[in-house]
Amino acid sequence: MRTQVGIVGAGPAGLMLSHLLHLHGIESVVLECRSREYVEHRVRAGVLEQGSVDLLCRTGLGERLQREGMRHEGIELRFDGESHRVPMTELTGRAITVYGQQEVVKDLIAARLAAGGRLLFEVDDVRPEGLDTDSPVIRFRRDGREEELHCDFVAGCDGFHGVSRAAVPAGVLTTYERTYPFAWLGILAAAPPAVDELIYARTERGFALYSLRSPEISRLYLQVAPDEDIADWPDERIWAELRARLETVPGWSLNEGPILEKGITPMRSFVVEPMQWQRLYLAGDAVHIVPPTGAKGMNLALADVALLGDAFAAWYGEGRTDLLEGYSATALRRVWRAQHFSWWMTSMLHRLDGQDGYEAKLQSSTLRYVATSRPYATSLAENYVGLPEV
Ligand code: FAD
Ligand code: DHB
Repeated sequence: MRTQVGIVGAGPAGLMLSHLLHLHGIESVVLECRSREYVEHRVRAGVLEQGSVDLLCRTGLGERLQREGMRHEGIELRFDGESHRVPMTELTGRAITVYGQQEVVKDLIAARLAAGGRLLFEVDDVRPEGLDTDSPVIRFRRDGREEELHCDFVAGCDGFHGVSRAAVPAGVLTTYERTYPFAWLGILAAAPPAVDELIYARTERGFALYSLRSPEISRLYLQVAPDEDIADWPDERIWAELRARLETVPGWSLNEGPILEKGITPMRSFVVEPMQWQRLYLAGDAVHIVPPTGAKGMNLALADVALLGDAFAAWYGEGRTDLLEGYSATALRRVWRAQHFSWWMTSMLHRLDGQDGYEAKLQSSTLRYVATSRPYATSLAENYVGLPEV
């Protein structure tokens, strides 16, 4: 098989890149190790920045998003028994849209297939090779048979555990990393959300987040220990803990219902630089991970490939190399802004075990400062809705 850009991974980054390349008249093939069914039902992020919504709408993917996505103009911070709204749109003129990552993935897959795009699911043993030559090849197995995809470039969009980053020789990449002494337990529940806007809650029992997917479906998260076993969290224990952490203001209660899905996600901050080596371009979780508190993961993945799409278009259309050469440095500016914001939100809202109370006092003070200072609230808001320029 031959194509122009070989893409590893059918998450938001790989699928969006394939879609953008198609709009520029550039061919690609996407290789994905999981099934279509699996990637379309993997429950993950849910918050789209204004820039991500604009990108999806501008490229013909806005129809269902505009019908089913929920535009939010503020978020609530709940701490020390009080509630404070951050009026994001009033402060920045922009908003976020709540729309599940798997819905973005479904829309992208439908658009690629309708346009005759080649997406190969359930391929095994993907090996990008010859990346330092003008004609890289991706070897893989499909239905037990060895196959080869010859291409001009390889886009590594295969997430944190993928193979693309590992194809770069030792010593080329620099890794920056932090782990956190906690994880998130996330649930999807058939319960009408008791909120119109997301609630980020800091309590002495730990952090909790109230989010939603539709007028019938709630999405909630709890800070738990990093080695927590989901088997120790029967549904009743999850609801009891959510009540304890969220029902902290008088007269307010959450809505419960059957839990449809639950899982534990570890938290880390991770960046690899540069995001490119020879003919390999890395994007999304393959090169950077943020803790989910800032809701940035999927947005960064989309922002990376928006740059990469333009860079390949300039190369194929006009023979320009400047955008491809500048890709890593340009993308890393947004990546590091999101790294800082996600680390800051995480540090402000999570319970840190073993602390003598000093950090907890700083957290309360920081939250109170956001609640009372318009410039500080604006800083949170403009990072949360996404900065147009970084
Ligand atoms: P991915 O979505 O990970 O896509 C990579 C794709 O590559 C996958 O489909 C994978 O199956 C495929 N792949 C991997 N290895 C190979 C291989 N060897 N060969 C072929 N294909 C391969 N962000 C938030 O903002 N909020 C959240 O609540 C949140 N929850 C998350 C929960 C989990 C469990 C995880 C892992 C991430 C979560 N994130 C969250 C982060 C967000 O979902 C990611 O940032 C986003 O998915 C990044 O998109 P991506 O396309 O770069 O990577
Ligand atoms: C959701 C996830 C996040 O990480 C976040 O910060 C806000 C919302 C969600 O899944 O809805």
